[in-house]
Amino acid sequence: MTCVPDATLLDTLARLLGPKGFTRDPADLAPWLTDWRGRVHGAAAALLSPSSTAEVAEVLRLADKHRVAIVPQGGNTSMVAGATPPADGAALILSTRRMHAIRSLSAEDNVAVAEAGVVLSDLHDAAASIGRRFPLSLASKGTATIGGLISTNAGGTQVLRFGTMRALVLGIEAVLPSGEIFDGLSALRKDNRGYDLRQLLAGAEGTLGVITAASLRLVPAIGLRAVAWVGLRESQAAITLLRRLEAATGEAVESFEIVPDEGLALVLRHIPGTRAPLADAHRWNLLIEAVAPAGAADPADSLGTVLGDAIADGLIEDAAIAANEAQAESFWRLRESMSEAERIDGLAAKHDVSVPVSAMPAFLDEGRAAVEARFPGTRVLAFGHLGDGNVHFNVRAPIGVDDRAWLERDGKAVSAFVHDMAGARGGSLSAEHGIGQTKLADFARTAGPARLAALRAIKEALDPRGIMNPGKLVPGPRAVAQGGRSQ
Ligand code: MLT
Ligand code: ZN
Repeated sequence: MTCVPDATLLDTLARLLGPKGFTRDPADLAPWLTDWRGRVHGAAAALLSPSSTAEVAEVLRLADKHRVAIVPQGGNTSMVAGATPPADGAALILSTRRMHAIRSLSAEDNVAVAEAGVVLSDLHDAAASIGRRFPLSLASKGTATIGGLISTNAGGTQVLRFGTMRALVLGIEAVLPSGEIFDGLSALRKDNRGYDLRQLLAGAEGTLGVITAASLRLVPAIGLRAVAWVGLRESQAAITLLRRLEAATGEAVESFEIVPDEGLALVLRHIPGTRAPLADAHRWNLLIEAVAPAGAADPADSLGTVLGDAIADGLIEDAAIAANEAQAESFWRLRESMSEAERIDGLAAKHDVSVPVSAMPAFLDEGRAAVEARFPGTRVLAFGHLGDGNVHFNVRAPIGVDDRAWLERDGKAVSAFVHDMAGARGGSLSAEHGIGQTKLADFARTAGPARLAALRAIKEALDPRGIMNPGKLVPGPRAVAQGGRSQ
């Protein structure tokens, strides 16, 4: 059990961090108490914004001594309320936003060393300034921070080629709950010294310490890119198309995203300035990006050939390749606005499931039918990263039903049903968003004793007083009995 911070501790922290680094003003705290989806509300005793690793270390040393909970926060864009403090108001939020320096950039080593509070799009810009790029992108790139992206092992739209955040992290600097600084920043491509603390901290959702900086892998800048919007009837055809593209273009295809017709309609209805790329509506839409380094052949040529052949033999119904960068961006905007359009449209039971890529077409079609049969009137909206086997298999309330009341009543059962469908196909209930608070109960229910025991043992070993981000990721013994919250 953690404790409420007393006045002496709060005074000590205020002196340590100064006025820019410490506030208890409710107006300053307000934006950080609710998750991005606006579903989970917490409270906190203070907002701490240290400006250096040494300050983070001193904060954690004090918090550990006084047994006070720390909730690390970056851009607060978690999809699973992983950075929202508990409702009891006893925790301290530790924001990394003042630690936003890019400490170094090396084109020779293909490495950037960025502090935890660096915003993803700022890292993209910095990498571009030396002719490189950081190959991870997602819709919240203008807000999400490096520390949070590592702590959640974020995915996004280029996982197909480059993997999730874990594959891009070469080194980590972090403060452990004891206040000790782990200096693992050196960006070695090979380092075989046993248990890998970097990979333990990646995806730990702030439950084992605070990541303060990271060495990140850069790759050559894109010379040319080709972005296509494809319409087709059968989800199975999408996988056939992906394999044809890979055969024709090697590793050029970086993004292979799927949007159903009802998803595109939602974006066109709610997001100003958007328009459909194809003349007719199609059951499924794909957004495909293929890239080439400077000086190589234009990827639009091979993409155009494969798509043309696919139309000719009836695999797909229609396709358009963006004629210029503005059009490419407008295609991407359709895909990246999916979540926002869905949020404007109303509440949904949200899911982030993965299954083997080959199992995804059946999962999309049979899963939808199964959910809509089991929960009559509900509407499945599944979109996302088809190329890497991860979709956001969201379920909306029946038309005319109050979505909040529906979610309160049926949300947990719907989510359990969807998660079990993924599990039955060898999949995961969290592909890229993490566990946070909203997946905790189902994670506890389905994880199995060996996984749970190992998770708890690691947590206990590194954070014996349980101060780091309590209530997230690591299910307590009562997590299943309590049933958690719905999505
Ligand atoms: C996406 O792929 O658009 C994001 O993961 C957001 C979401 O799941 O809503
Ligand atoms: Zn996603």
